[in-house]
Amino acid sequence: MEKTVVLVKPDGLQRGLVGEIIHRFERKGLKLVGIKMVRFTDSIIDNWYAHHKDKDFFQTLKDFMEWTPVVAMVWQGLDAIAAVRKIVGITKAREAEAGSIRGDFGMSGSNNIIHASDAPESAEKELGLIFNADEIFDYDSVTDLLIYSKEEVGK
Ligand code: CMP
Repeated sequence: MEKTVVLVKPDGLQRGLVGEIIHRFERKGLKLVGIKMVRFTDSIIDNWYAHHKDKDFFQTLKDFMEWTPVVAMVWQGLDAIAAVRKIVGITKAREAEAGSIRGDFGMSGSNNIIHASDAPESAEKELGLIFNADEIFDYDSVTDLLIYSKEEVGK
């Protein structure tokens, strides 16, 4: 099953949205396999957002992500990356679909509450930047057989 990395960004933490966000992924049937608080540093941000390094908002993004710790999570499930991004909503929160996290709680394109990996390669990279191998847990979930069909559960 696929793993994806989610961050509750500093604005989400300040606004008390950690529980709400976890609740939404739990209700969906995703499995939590890692969770911790992390203080983002220049070096993590330079790696994490390397593709935004030349954008004019890069310093704003850096200041924002270093404002407070973030809550970092790893969620697992069948096609988890796409499933999580649907629940998260598009970058510009004020245009995000109602019912998504950004659509329900945000107005900004920068202070947009939450991050979610956008591809298997970025999920792997992001996981490696902030999690150690012993912080990711492989365990049986009794609900897997309810959430998935027999054919899907082994994937
Ligand atoms: P996300 O799409 O998760 O990853 C890149 C982040 O950069 C994005 O969320 C926003 O938090 C931030 N970002 C994108 N565009 C802007 C912008 N124009 N100004 C400031 N921050 C931005």
